[in-house]
Amino acid sequence: MRYPLEQHSCLFVILAAGRGLRMQSDLPKALHAVGRLPLLGHVLRSTQKAAAVDKSSSLQGEHFTAVIAHPSDFDSFQKLGAQLEIPLCLIPQEERLGTGHALRCLPEELLQNHTDVIVVFGDTPLVLPETLSRVRYSLSQRAALCVVGFPAKNPQGYGRLIGVDEGWVGGICEDKHASPEIRSTNLCNAGIIGLRSDLLLNLLPQLTPNPLTGEIYLTELVALASVQGLRSALEWAEEDEVQGVNTRAQLAECERLFQSRCRDAALAQGVTLEMPETVFFSYDTQLEADVRVEPYVVFGPGVVVERGSIIRSFSNLEGSHVGAGSVVGPFARLRPGTKLAPAVRIGNFVEVKNSRLGSGTKANHLSYLGDAEIGAQVNIGAGTITCNYDGQNKYVTTLQDGAFIGAHTTLVAPVTVGQGAYIGSGSVIRQNVPAEALALTRAPYLEKKGWARQRIAPHSQSNASSE
Ligand code: UD1
Ligand code: CA
Repeated sequence: MRYPLEQHSCLFVILAAGRGLRMQSDLPKALHAVGRLPLLGHVLRSTQKAAAVDKSSSLQGEHFTAVIAHPSDFDSFQKLGAQLEIPLCLIPQEERLGTGHALRCLPEELLQNHTDVIVVFGDTPLVLPETLSRVRYSLSQRAALCVVGFPAKNPQGYGRLIGVDEGWVGGICEDKHASPEIRSTNLCNAGIIGLRSDLLLNLLPQLTPNPLTGEIYLTELVALASVQGLRSALEWAEEDEVQGVNTRAQLAECERLFQSRCRDAALAQGVTLEMPETVFFSYDTQLEADVRVEPYVVFGPGVVVERGSIIRSFSNLEGSHVGAGSVVGPFARLRPGTKLAPAVRIGNFVEVKNSRLGSGTKANHLSYLGDAEIGAQVNIGAGTITCNYDGQNKYVTTLQDGAFIGAHTTLVAPVTVGQGAYIGSGSVIRQNVPAEALALTRAPYLEKKGWARQRIAPHSQSNASSE
């Protein structure tokens, strides 16, 4: 039964063609997000990472991922693959006749090119690569078919494992077809099933539509294998890892589990989270050691924060790189394309978009910096605004090293302020300012003594006469 590990090649098949009716959504279920990444994206990343895990556990051979999808979703799934830089092979399932029918859509040659097939559901986003790898190992060492099971706190809706015996399972019964006795058990099918391709090729034609629902169930494979005298191996997973998403409530539960996983990982990597449960991560958030995150911070996709930086309360960051030892917030907003060099300070009510700020630069209060190239040690006064948009195009504002921008300056792009130049507060700068110059656009000071008293006097007289 055993065969050498290095001869394996593994085909991951992600089933993502279901309609997801229980979500009550126009969006395909696999595109609903957890940690700002579609469910399908999480599963794709796990199958990718399984290759690395396999290498370290001496399971060699090719890995290949195919996604069964409805043709109307091809474009969006393709885009997701491109975003994650994971090549996708999309296989159409036009009619959605069940999970077993979905597997029948795989071209035979594809199955013949691989020794193992591991089926993963596109609605089970938290599955760990180590679990997929354990299934492969099981296939190479002890069985031609392997099922992942879990003990459920609330098993309702899941297929139940039957005939469980010391690491083996005799069959799977779907919740809607289970007797009250089976329904009262809590050992469930996680939806991850691995098997040898030759066995799958042999069993696929034998799957039959369920007489009550007309659906063809993937889970029937276990019973069919046992008819051929083949026992199915059982690997266990934690419920948190294999939580399926059929409803919005389960989507929210997955988000909660995902966030808790991210917080634990950040703490383990040396990040301080003062109140972990108030910090929200995206799938790709990277915080280096000794970063401190105060309560109530949201990390959108694409954020890297280097060592020793502090992200203060109520800040929202996305698509941004924060250099070492910087301080961001409280109440700061960093939008995509922001790159802060080390030791930058971004204070309260400052919004930065598509801008680079050099080391030691400060924008501490109430500013908008968009499409700006800002050098080192620049001081940006409170209320400074880059006017980067004329209604049609965006333009760049350049502030060179050591420039001092007085409070309430309006920088009308395209414009450059040279090295070490000063801008007087309240100025509207529409032309380039040479290095070390002082630029001012203030109106001259005007004073009219007693003007207010004279203006108000006639009114107070008329008020008095009307009383
Ligand atoms: C399925 C399992 C159940 C298991 C549970 C774990 C079957 C018959 N049942 O039930 O034993 O406990 O998952 O979460 O397998 N899909 C297709 N084409 C189809 C139908 C479904 O690609 O024709 C895809 C769906 O998009 C989804 C996955 O297969 O990603 C599972 O389908 P779903 O309808 O969610 O199955 P469950 O009822 O959750
Ligand atoms: Ca499901």
